[in-house]
Amino acid sequence: MTDSFLWAEKYRPKTFEEFVGQTHILDGVRQLVEQGNLPHVMFAGPAGVGKSTLAIVVARTLFGDRWRQNVLELNASDERGIDVVRTKVKNFARTKAFEVPFKIIFLDECDALTRDAQQALRRTMENFSNSCRFVLSCNFPSKIIDPIQSRCVNYRFKSLTKEDIFALVDRIAKGEGLKLDADAKESLFACCEGDCRRVVNLLQAASTSGKTIDKDKVESLAGLATPQELPEMLSLALKGDLLTARKHLIGMLGAGLSGQDLIKLIQKGVWELDIDDKQKLQLVDRCGECEFRLVEGSDSVIQLEALLAQFGLLRA
Ligand SMILES: Nc1ncnc2c1ncn2[C@@H]1O[C@H](COP(=O)(O)OP(=O)(O)OP(=O)(O)O)[C@@H](O)[C@H]1O
Ligand SMILES: [Mg+2]
Repeated sequence: MTDSFLWAEKYRPKTFEEFVGQTHILDGVRQLVEQGNLPHVMFAGPAGVGKSTLAIVVARTLFGDRWRQNVLELNASDERGIDVVRTKVKNFARTKAFEVPFKIIFLDECDALTRDAQQALRRTMENFSNSCRFVLSCNFPSKIIDPIQSRCVNYRFKSLTKEDIFALVDRIAKGEGLKLDADAKESLFACCEGDCRRVVNLLQAASTSGKTIDKDKVESLAGLATPQELPEMLSLALKGDLLTARKHLIGMLGAGLSGQDLIKLIQKGVWELDIDDKQKLQLVDRCGECEFRLVEGSDSVIQLEALLAQFGLLRA
């Protein structure tokens, strides 16, 4: 194992055996690879669960040392337009495979491709399927047009279970000489929501201040500990004092919490408020709407302020 600075790279699985979880996918993909063949495939699922990693493991296993010359790796969220498909993908697809039966085009985050680009991709997949196989990866398969989905074998990745995350934590703890008790591991699992990348990054961040890692350290790094300002902000918003509530909001965002971290905390906070159940339901519903908009890329300050305004409107 190379001594990579980023643990997410250092501990990135290089073989099928090194993965934790996803056995429902690994078995099937391994069989395809062992037969030396590969249809177009789509790896869909949440962040940090091994989609990109598996794509590279597939290429390595199929092509050995020659994998780099025969794989084109593109991140569609950097290059979303039709020109990418027209130029880079087609140019690569057109040239001959180098001492292997076919080449692989790995299009990461392809749910970021525009619809036009997806249409162009669909045609490219058809035209070059003899010489090229596509491995597509995405978080939201519903954003991929049907004709592409139907050209691929679809694999749905799952968030990792507690056992899987614990296995990963144990492996890294052993590799790095870290000491974690059961509580620390539980809180790592609670913070990461089944996302391995987040676990590995949290562990690395926690390790900078010593090899012993406890629950408090994990929670404060993950921003999971509820900031003291949060209940105050919610009660001000309920009273209709949006101006002061907003100051707390900006303060917490400035302290490094992301919009999505905050929406989760606000949603939890709603259940603690001294309002009737129907009002709680209304607010939880608004939280869901706000979260969706944030995931879709809306401005966090505008969306969270709008949400706080809903708190004030309850009493109006
Ligand atoms: N199943 C797994 N087993 C072991 N480690 C994993 C697994 N999944 C992810 N990891 C770790 O998390 C890191 C990120 O994984 P990867 O890049 O494959 O995520 P992804 O599913 O492609 O996420 P995204 O949707 O954000 O691109 C890897 O470098 C590796 O360290
Ligand atoms: Mg990825």
